[in-house]
Amino acid sequence: MSFPGEFPPRMWIPGPTYVRPEILAALGRPTVGHRTSIMTELVKSIAPKLQRLFKTRQHSLVISASGSAAWEGSVRCGVEKRWACVTNGSFSEGWARTGESCGRETVKVAFEWGEGLDPQRIEEQLRKAGPVEAVGFVSNETSTGAYSDVKAICDAVRRAQPDALLFVDAVSTLAGAPFEFDAWGIDVALASSQKCLALPPGIAVVALSDRFLDKARTVQGRGYYMDFIHLADDWDKQHQTPATPAVNLFYALDEQLSAMEREGYEARFVRHRTMMERVDGWANRHGFPSFVAEPYRSPTTANRATKGFDIATFIARMIERGHELSNGYGKLKGHAFRIGHFGDHSPIELENMLAIADDVLRRMGR
Ligand SMILES: Cc1ncc(COP(=O)(O)O)c(C=O)c1O
Repeated sequence: MSFPGEFPPRMWIPGPTYVRPEILAALGRPTVGHRTSIMTELVKSIAPKLQRLFKTRQHSLVISASGSAAWEGSVRCGVEKRWACVTNGSFSEGWARTGESCGRETVKVAFEWGEGLDPQRIEEQLRKAGPVEAVGFVSNETSTGAYSDVKAICDAVRRAQPDALLFVDAVSTLAGAPFEFDAWGIDVALASSQKCLALPPGIAVVALSDRFLDKARTVQGRGYYMDFIHLADDWDKQHQTPATPAVNLFYALDEQLSAMEREGYEARFVRHRTMMERVDGWANRHGFPSFVAEPYRSPTTANRATKGFDIATFIARMIERGHELSNGYGKLKGHAFRIGHFGDHSPIELENMLAIADDVLRRMGR
């Protein structure tokens, strides 16, 4: 698929990611009014596939906004006064800040950047924290590439705070790694379109538990656009959305959900693991150590430390050769680089990109 000099470069950044031509074609279908039967049929087509993606029999829906909006909705609708947010990098810290900016007391269970989430430490901290209405954490900290065991953390939270709602950011793992909303007892899960779903940015998918919606009905000041009660009622009963949705992105989502089911989620997860191992071997061979320790390596996003290596030049030369990688995120800029090997990238295309990276590194004297 990729050729040196191709423009725009193939995106291996941790989102937005490469979008297949078939999906771009689906976006080009005629835009229709959002109160038409065509739109209702589209929502009806998406709904059961979304439930299968999240593995839930409860509620799941699409919002016409990126994942951060769902962070805000989870806190506004599920928390009246006090919640806890586990942090281990830029995005989880962003979710905690979202809670604070919505005026909710936010207890931080803080880990260092690059650390994976240790369930035992979370359990201990939450036992000391006093009652919280919800606990949020990020399954894959895209800023550091730390991937945590979602089920083990859910179990730990349940033991420490049995009444707290469980919020999980699955932004850079959903459709790239196993996820079981009902079985793991999650109350809100959210993911953006531009990551493992391999769609253009602009929408997010969420799953909501009955328990969450029961609580949300009692919460005052949920706001308008991200009021999950309004969103879930319209989605479940009318197969519609309260405000004008991103109609053409819904076409693309419907198409992609079907394509992922044809591939099979298990096969998709294996493909992501295969690409993780390949990137790992390649980076080790070049002396770029993983920024995160075992067992927290991510199946979807690699983050490799580059100590003293001119990462900006490497990235610029890769772009000239048709492939875009990412510099380190936030305070890791210049100290690490990131590869998003998720979505619809294939191992063969990865080999192609790594062969080019080998050549670029050789020319840089590495
Ligand atoms: C783990 C994680 N959570 C949340 C976000 C924010 O998502 P969005 O940019 O779709 O609002 C990102 C974005 O990269 C992310 O990686």
